Amino acid sequence: MTDLARARGVPAGKYVEGLGVSRMAVADAHEDAVALAANASRRLFATAGVEASSIGLCVAGTETGVDHSKPIAAYLHRLLGLPQRCRVYETKHACFGGTAALLGAIDWIAAGSNRGRSALIVCTDIARYALNSPGEPTQGAGAVALLVTENPRLLAFEPGISGSYARDVDDFWRPLYPKVAVVDGHRSVQCYLDALAGAYDAYCEAATLAGYDARTLARRCYHVPYGKMAKKAHRHLKQREGLSEAEADASYEVEVASSLVLPSQVGNVYTGSLYLALASLLDAEAEAIEGERVGLFSYGSGCCAEYFAGRVEKGAGEWVRRLALAQPLAERRTYSIEEYEAIRAADDAVDQAPVHTLNGHSPAGMIAFVGVDNQRRVYE
Ligand code: HMG
Repeated sequence: MTDLARARGVPAGKYVEGLGVSRMAVADAHEDAVALAANASRRLFATAGVEASSIGLCVAGTETGVDHSKPIAAYLHRLLGLPQRCRVYETKHACFGGTAALLGAIDWIAAGSNRGRSALIVCTDIARYALNSPGEPTQGAGAVALLVTENPRLLAFEPGISGSYARDVDDFWRPLYPKVAVVDGHRSVQCYLDALAGAYDAYCEAATLAGYDARTLARRCYHVPYGKMAKKAHRHLKQREGLSEAEADASYEVEVASSLVLPSQVGNVYTGSLYLALASLLDAEAEAIEGERVGLFSYGSGCCAEYFAGRVEKGAGEWVRRLALAQPLAERRTYSIEEYEAIRAADDAVDQAPVHTLNGHSPAGMIAFVGVDNQRRVYE
């Protein structure tokens, strides 16, 4: 981000301290939302020892769809070798799409429809704004794969104890065909904070009915378009509870800071952002907070939001070490500004490129998008 700031003639402090981002993931031509989702899922299957045959529901939450009709989950069905007796579909509501899929999976299990099987929920996105726009430093790319089972090893959700909020607003959207989003940036920040207050109040009522006080949440993860937004969000909640700004910021260090380490290295991954924050928290602190509740806030522009919570399972610390959640970030390489701008210049042509004509870097052993054959997207 320091390099990008220099190239844009902006003080690096604006990106690094002002927005709370130090690196930004860029997806190259081979890494579309399907490839990102497939590679995250394959990593999950390998590290957690999951058999594809155990999956009865596969939903991809995304706002970077590759087709108006065919869902990313249908591609995943083949690329991951999922069983024929499996429900597959895609969910969309800006950054809320992954949470919509996750909440559906929790209900699928609570209703007994799973019959012993697990759900694979994949949040996959590439965040693109126009070059040189205020949104540019808040881009990112990535996928988070979540395994939802009757016997969770990391976090146990409490079906029904959550708070929703929705309102029709034009804060951020992406009209059909352009790959970059349109955003009313400062308005979007206010919409996020309004949604947080509304969803949190609804959640507090549900928690009280369930017999606990929401103020006992040990940690809190927020949707992270950029790290500073999560800090503003936490301050907003705490000040509504009567804390001073200094007290709110002290509680941020304890309850939120560790969830922003991985997001500050990746940027906004839209649907996956909240779950990247959760991965960051668990990677840093799972062992220390076993048995405690973590609050989760999901926001999707447009808008829809949900506040809910999960309890960290006994043994989560050991399990997290096995999953090596931060490992993928160590496998990246650095692009120069010229390479990044060349990737962006080719964005619109990529979806029409004949098979094997794409420029890009496709590491061995990873699933890659390799072009289009007779209007069909091809993956190898
Ligand atoms: P901007 O207007 O260029 O930035 O864009 P700014 O002037 O507001 O400055 C940002 C911060 O940097 C400020 O701190 C400055 O003081 C500080 P704050 O007042 O906010 O605490 N600053 C500095 N700090 C240190 N050294 C310096 C310096 N200079 C300034 N030298 C904006 C900011 C967020 C509007 C822009 O990046 C943007 O439009 N981003 C995209 C929209 C977005 O991320 N919105 C977030 C809420 S909506 C959401 O989360 C949904 C979303 O994920 C989409 C979905 O749901 O699908 C986006």
